[in-house]
Amino acid sequence: MSLALELHDLLKTYLRRHGVAAITVDTADAWRLDAAFTLPGIGRCRARNVRKGDVPAFHAFGAGLSERSKDLFSPYPWNEPEKLKGAFQAAIDASVNRVDAAYFLEMEGEPVGHFFLWKAGGNPHARAHGVEVPELGVAVADAWQGRGFGGLMVRILTAVARSLGADAVELTTALDNEPGWQTYLRAGYEYTGIIRNPQFVDVTAVAAGAATAAVWRDERQMILLLNETKRDAVLHYLAVKREEALKM
Ligand SMILES: CC(C)(COP(=O)(O)OP(=O)(O)OC[C@H]1O[C@@H](n2cnc3c(N)ncnc32)[C@H](O)[C@@H]1OP(=O)(O)O)[C@@H](O)C(=O)NCCC(=O)NCCS
Repeated sequence: MSLALELHDLLKTYLRRHGVAAITVDTADAWRLDAAFTLPGIGRCRARNVRKGDVPAFHAFGAGLSERSKDLFSPYPWNEPEKLKGAFQAAIDASVNRVDAAYFLEMEGEPVGHFFLWKAGGNPHARAHGVEVPELGVAVADAWQGRGFGGLMVRILTAVARSLGADAVELTTALDNEPGWQTYLRAGYEYTGIIRNPQFVDVTAVAAGAATAAVWRDERQMILLLNETKRDAVLHYLAVKREEALKM
């Protein structure tokens, strides 16, 4: 099934629970994704790629996250303002250059969700183990949590990964992040083990030796397997990652 058709189906499923109207999907592929719907009485909601000029959108999104949410969602150095703009620009460049598949969910033009697959364009670390496994991140602005957006974004990313031919999707989540844990379990993700994970950075850049991290934390590692024939190779790759993290 094409990514556009899969997005249409996902939004129709969301519609049945949340009363969505007027779905439009204008999506050629993961790098040109545009899917919108109307939540009656609330507004027009749109998922779109992160693009050039999005630094203000990143700042606006960050302003809607509580300290707790920033701690749980830590791909950017939230507490180091002098580094933040550069980190946002790096995320934009990685999206534009098709390294990461990165998106905003907007409500009436304001970013209320941010979701991405690091190294969706090809993960050299995973490839060295014979598998293609991008790494997922999602967050919903605090005022918009609990409306199904997180679950929807995780499912969109799963569809994106499938459209790109990934063997699996990996993610990590803090041990005490119950909403995250439930969101991933309900979207079909499996627990694989505890991993020591770098914070406030692109985790895949740290694994590649291209970035370093000052803060680390034990997290749950989870996967969604997309290619059953690669199960053993994917599980081996994830076990190697858990081992390697202990040595960094
Ligand atoms: C985790 C997060 C993305 C979830 O997004 P959300 O829009 O609030 O979640 P949803 O409304 O889509 O809920 C997803 C599922 O999890 C369940 N869920 C959410 N919070 C829950 C909780 N505290 N207890 C039990 N179930 C919960 C929902 O019932 C739903 O399941 P269902 O579809 O079977 O009903 C969001 O809370 C968030 O951004 N938190 C801060 C940042 C963060 O933790 N990011 C993830 C880092 S790993």
